[in-house]
Amino acid sequence: MNVTVFGIGYVGLVQAAVLSEVGHHVCCVDVDAARIEKLKQGIIPIYEPGLTPLVKSNFEAGRITFTTNAEEGVNFADMQFIAVGTPPDEDGAADLKYVLAVANTIATHMQSAKVIVDKSTVPVGTADKVAASIQQALTAKNSELSFSVVSNPEFLKEGSAVADCMRPDRIVVGIRPNDNSQHIQETFKDLYAPFNRNHDRIIFMDARSAELTKYAANCMLATKVSFMNEMANIAEKVGADIEHVRQGIGSDSRIGFQFIYPGCGYGGSCFPKDVQALSKTSEVIGYQPELLHAVEAINQRQKNKLFEYINKHFKGNIKGKTFALWGLSFKPKTDDMREAPSRVLMESLWAAGAKVQAFDPEAMEETQRIYGSREDLALMGTKEAALKGADALVICTEWQNFKAPDFDLIKAELKQPVIVDGRNLFDPERVKAKGIEYYAIGRGLSVGGE
Ligand SMILES: NC(=O)c1ccc[n+]([C@@H]2O[C@H](COP(=O)([O-])OP(=O)(O)OC[C@H]3O[C@@H](n4cnc5c(N)ncnc54)[C@H](O)[C@@H]3O)[C@@H](O)[C@H]2O)c1
Repeated sequence: MNVTVFGIGYVGLVQAAVLSEVGHHVCCVDVDAARIEKLKQGIIPIYEPGLTPLVKSNFEAGRITFTTNAEEGVNFADMQFIAVGTPPDEDGAADLKYVLAVANTIATHMQSAKVIVDKSTVPVGTADKVAASIQQALTAKNSELSFSVVSNPEFLKEGSAVADCMRPDRIVVGIRPNDNSQHIQETFKDLYAPFNRNHDRIIFMDARSAELTKYAANCMLATKVSFMNEMANIAEKVGADIEHVRQGIGSDSRIGFQFIYPGCGYGGSCFPKDVQALSKTSEVIGYQPELLHAVEAINQRQKNKLFEYINKHFKGNIKGKTFALWGLSFKPKTDDMREAPSRVLMESLWAAGAKVQAFDPEAMEETQRIYGSREDLALMGTKEAALKGADALVICTEWQNFKAPDFDLIKAELKQPVIVDGRNLFDPERVKAKGIEYYAIGRGLSVGGE
């Protein structure tokens, strides 16, 4: 099948790559000319495991093309994916201007019937808004072309996006009441057949339920994280170790071990904005989303936790100190720094007059892009180099190669043997036996507790 994808970011590029890999032909359209030019030259603008070879081989095979020409994209396929960003506006609601701009583009150029697919995470009712906007544009040009708008939210995880799209847990397809449900169901079964062989993963529902499903999934996961961080903060105050508690509750199959790691807060482009956006949707309809507000407030507080430990350890004397920082991306296996806890920490340290020597396996370029060159930030080539002459080591991201470091080297390189660990990577006894002071999240009296 032919598919056009508007918005070639984390979602659009990965979807385009996996769809072309199974034999579909995909036209990728983005307004960012530099990004499209790079893609044509085989330069992949984001880091995502397995993505580069997939894009390159399908580009060479002619199954994936890149353009800034929207008209070309609209006329390429009956199926038009919208995968543009939906960032929060000033009051936290999802800003739909990019989604509606694409809708307008499609309406302007379409010369045959289209199935328009919302891949972006959008508030309930957006499929109706997109449909109304297209209808208005068609009516204005006296066109009677038919179209449907389908909600097909994306559930990929950055860091394993290719694998997630190749083997999705589920494929949610939301159809609007007056659209041709049978035709849409058949189209989606054909499109996703290669990903649906092992067992049927497609769940058909109405468009509003599909839109809410995406928010409900992300808000549930964010709630798990904030719940564990709340428990960690309680554990710290009562002298318990949250890591023992985690093992104790995860072994209950109703709870499970997934997504119950305490830490220095969730970040990324999805959880923070999606919790905010669903809160806003709820408020607009007159419902107070108390749980969602608490999830967000706990997360904001948790992002300050590492700075609080540092401040406590150095008794407020942070000015002029240098901190080694391991991990800048919001989670491992991505270069995405959106809402990353490392940013909150660095900005607090800079405001207090400290310097940062940072290392991340993938997010150095992105850090440079965001912060530019500044005297209080040194981007180091290795995690060991980041330690040299620093007053303490702080860990913000649980990259694999941070998990078994040379503690003797850490002790030798740091001015003071202190580790502040936002991801609970180490056994406190082992670190302390090396003569290093160890602060971690919710680990009781032994490690920086009250
Ligand atoms: N990143 C994730 O892990 C993830 C997962 C699931 C869902 N989502 C959702 O998917 C959507 C996209 O997220 P993302 O992280 O891929 O965004 P992104 O910022 O990485 O990419 C968006 C792209 O859209 C392009 N764009 C903007 N306006 C355009 C237009 N009019 N025409 C063509 N291209 C245009 C931008 O230039 C950019 O390249 C968001 O709604 C997000 O919430 C993201």
